[in-house]
Amino acid sequence: MSRITCIAIFCAILTVQAKFPNDPKACKYGDGECIVKFINDLVSKKSATGDRDINLVQIDPLPVAKLQLKQGEDSPVNIDLTFTDNKLVGLSTMTYTKVKGFGKNLAQKHELLWNIKKISVLGPYTISGKVLILPISGNGVSNMTMVNAEAKTTFIGKPIEKNGETYMDVTNFKLYLNPERIYYHFTNLFNGDKALGDNMNAFLNDNWEAIFGEVKLSLESAFGEVYHAIIRNVFTKYPYDKYFID
Ligand SMILES: *[C@@H]1O[C@H](CO)[C@@H](O)[C@H](O)[C@H]1NC(C)=O
Repeated sequence: MSRITCIAIFCAILTVQAKFPNDPKACKYGDGECIVKFINDLVSKKSATGDRDINLVQIDPLPVAKLQLKQGEDSPVNIDLTFTDNKLVGLSTMTYTKVKGFGKNLAQKHELLWNIKKISVLGPYTISGKVLILPISGNGVSNMTMVNAEAKTTFIGKPIEKNGETYMDVTNFKLYLNPERIYYHFTNLFNGDKALGDNMNAFLNDNWEAIFGEVKLSLESAFGEVYHAIIRNVFTKYPYDKYFID
């Protein structure tokens, strides 16, 4: 089994009670097409700034304090990989294509289909363990980049009563990722031994697909936690019925 921990840093939550913003305009309950446009509009206009009106943090770049991938000994990719104080770069290249749910009854399954052109995890890392029988160790700076990924996120809404109003908590969050390619680059592997490091980087890239197959679930949960925190935060701002119109 693999264990994942991941903590993302977010901006302070604004508590000033305001009305749901007019730009972009709220959609009707369950109007998937409108919601897709709404989210794509937010991504294209607010990625670099966030949007305090709906508790949306800046998502590109997105600081991530810690992201950990731990694969057990039963996996051919038995690694302990930790990214500390990294940046996720590229969330602004997301495009949403289909949305289900978000009806009047929030306590249901909600589903978002999207794709992303390019997302990079950049910053300091430490790694130790074994990758497909080869030992690996190092600490330095890394770039893990995923290209043209198809993605799906699902969650269950849970009603939370607060001051006589119903808010939506975002629970049972799941993320599925299917990238066309992943590129890895780790500096300073094997205490800076250049030949070993170059070989290992080449090996990781040549075998990216087999490695991804092994770490898929851990990666999906680690990224999923980051995404979960962002969307959960958005729905803490207003009671659920303020996000939609009748
Ligand atoms: C990270 O790697 C990707 C893929 O090789 C590359 O396109 C990108 O420029 C790199 N980013 C940085 C900051 O080096």
